[in-house]
Amino acid sequence: MRKQIAAANWKMNLNYQEAEKLIADLFSVPFSLKNDQEILIAVPAPYSAMAIEKTKGLSNVFIAAQNCHQKMEGAFTGELSASMLASVGIHHIIIGHSERRSYFGETDALLAEKVNAILSVNSTPIFCCGESLTIREVGTQNQYVEAQLKNALFHLTAAQIIKIVIAYEPIWAIGTGKTATSAEAQSMHAHIRSVLSSQYGPAVAEQISILYGGSVKSSNAVELFSQPDVDGGLVGGAALIASEFTAIIKALK
Ligand code: PGA
Repeated sequence: MRKQIAAANWKMNLNYQEAEKLIADLFSVPFSLKNDQEILIAVPAPYSAMAIEKTKGLSNVFIAAQNCHQKMEGAFTGELSASMLASVGIHHIIIGHSERRSYFGETDALLAEKVNAILSVNSTPIFCCGESLTIREVGTQNQYVEAQLKNALFHLTAAQIIKIVIAYEPIWAIGTGKTATSAEAQSMHAHIRSVLSSQYGPAVAEQISILYGGSVKSSNAVELFSQPDVDGGLVGGAALIASEFTAIIKALK
């Protein structure tokens, strides 16, 4: 059975004290998660040690990273590698977020290298894909997302791709308050699964978690997560409020 995941993407928000308080507030009452449910919290890198310490011993709760470099080491000032992150206990890494694609010029070819780096240290890439408003208006979103998957992931073997988590995040819904309807989300998630299925077969496609991201909040999480191909969410703004993210976690299937 594939995992149901509530993933927080804190982005470049909160100072250390606020981050400490948010972690404390979130886990003041431990969640009773089912075996197939997971909580991921992608904190800014300087807060990783604190967040790992504060969540130590909580099962199915993992501190994650928001990005990594495609190389393992070297003269890349300011960068962090998947192996460095693994060495401090971070085994889940978001890659290809639309903000990284648009502000830092990340391409699918680069993301293919990042995927390889992350898998090579036995960590899990959370691969983000999703179309802009212009593409949605033209109606070519299915082909667009399919190309993102093919270019960044389809060099992987079946044994490798089942280790990936996919996050579908329509750019027009990120931070805008405008959420995809549950029908729009389900339709794209089913498309992504069918693309995976035609490349790797249905048994593999069935095992891959596909998260929805883009203005997920407590008021829409139950409806979104109840869709058959929506396996949880990647949450920005609402993950910065303990009561909101708690409700989102509780909305997992
Ligand atoms: P949002 O961000 O929930 O604030 O829309 C989601 C994301 O960018 O991952």
